[in-house]
Amino acid sequence: MGDRKQKPVLLSGIQPSGNLMVGNYFGAIKNWVTLQGQYDCLFPLVDLHAITVRQNPAELRARCYDFLALYIACGIDPDQNTVFVQSHVPAHAQLAWILNCFTYMGELNRMHQFKEKASRSEQNISAGLFDYPVLMAADILLYDTKLVPVGDDQKQHLELTRDLASRFNARYGDVFTIPEPFVPDVGGRIMSLQEPLKKMSKSDTDPNNYIALLDDADTVRRKIKRAVTDSGCSAAYDESRPGIANLVVILSCVTGESYGAIEERFAGKGYRRFKQELADAVTAFLKPLQKRYRAIRGDEKAMETMLRHGAEQARDRARPMLENIHNVLGFIPEI
Ligand code: TYM
Repeated sequence: MGDRKQKPVLLSGIQPSGNLMVGNYFGAIKNWVTLQGQYDCLFPLVDLHAITVRQNPAELRARCYDFLALYIACGIDPDQNTVFVQSHVPAHAQLAWILNCFTYMGELNRMHQFKEKASRSEQNISAGLFDYPVLMAADILLYDTKLVPVGDDQKQHLELTRDLASRFNARYGDVFTIPEPFVPDVGGRIMSLQEPLKKMSKSDTDPNNYIALLDDADTVRRKIKRAVTDSGCSAAYDESRPGIANLVVILSCVTGESYGAIEERFAGKGYRRFKQELADAVTAFLKPLQKRYRAIRGDEKAMETMLRHGAEQARDRARPMLENIHNVLGFIPEI
């Protein structure tokens, strides 16, 4: 952490809901891993975000450990980066409140993710679900974050974060750094296996819609075999054939091959063969990751040490920012 001050800050979070899946990996985590050497990185596990919908407490706690172990199994180095749990750093919720007072209801009403989630459960929509993007803005703005590697679905939330930061700065001076999203060209929006016009989601009630990072070989094979395609026989990236196009994207993410190379390799060979090779490639990619995961997950004590450390670092870094914000707003400093 010695040269931390020289590096620009990168922050990105995942909410511990559902099962971490390939969309989360290729849309976000893979880029965290690639960029971790060049940036001063913070990776909060955003548990406060997860309770915007009802969670079973025992499952939530276990899932938090699962996700953190997966971060490390994917290649995040907890010694080089600040890995922590959002609820361990109260400044996130404190800044969220302040930013709430600078956010317009109309802005939150326009958020696609809120509209989509609210349409799924029209009753008992919590104020937290509505306010969720403001807490996300607080996560980011608290640490002078420059870069936020996320999937395509988070771009609108990033836009709101930038607007809030600019609005606050226009009134109080240069308090916040204006962050930028980083969305990969390939894998920024992986689609559902059964409904390829919908994005793949880790909280989907039907697990056949996603490939979880912890799915075993048989499950991967079965899910890919069942994935919706069309009546054609040549695997290609063609937007008018969203099912097969999505599978080509997944193969390209896993092997690094271009769409063109994949198209050439599978021309006229039929979807069955393509799906078999895709399942083999996904399994070969997941297997070593799962092995690392099992070793890390088996040692909760070591994970707790890492989290204690991460939270201390994050709290130390958040404090001066929050103090400055209180100061510019005119609050009496803590005595
Ligand atoms: P979440 O938990 O829904 O998703 C975690 C990350 O995975 C990306 N992602 C996808 N990428 C490609 N294809 C998909 N089908 C796909 N589904 C999800 C998401 O874009 C995200 O990068 N609001 C955030 C969590 C958050 C956050 C933050 C992110 C809270 N605070 C601060 C960045 C910075 C969310 O719900 O992500």
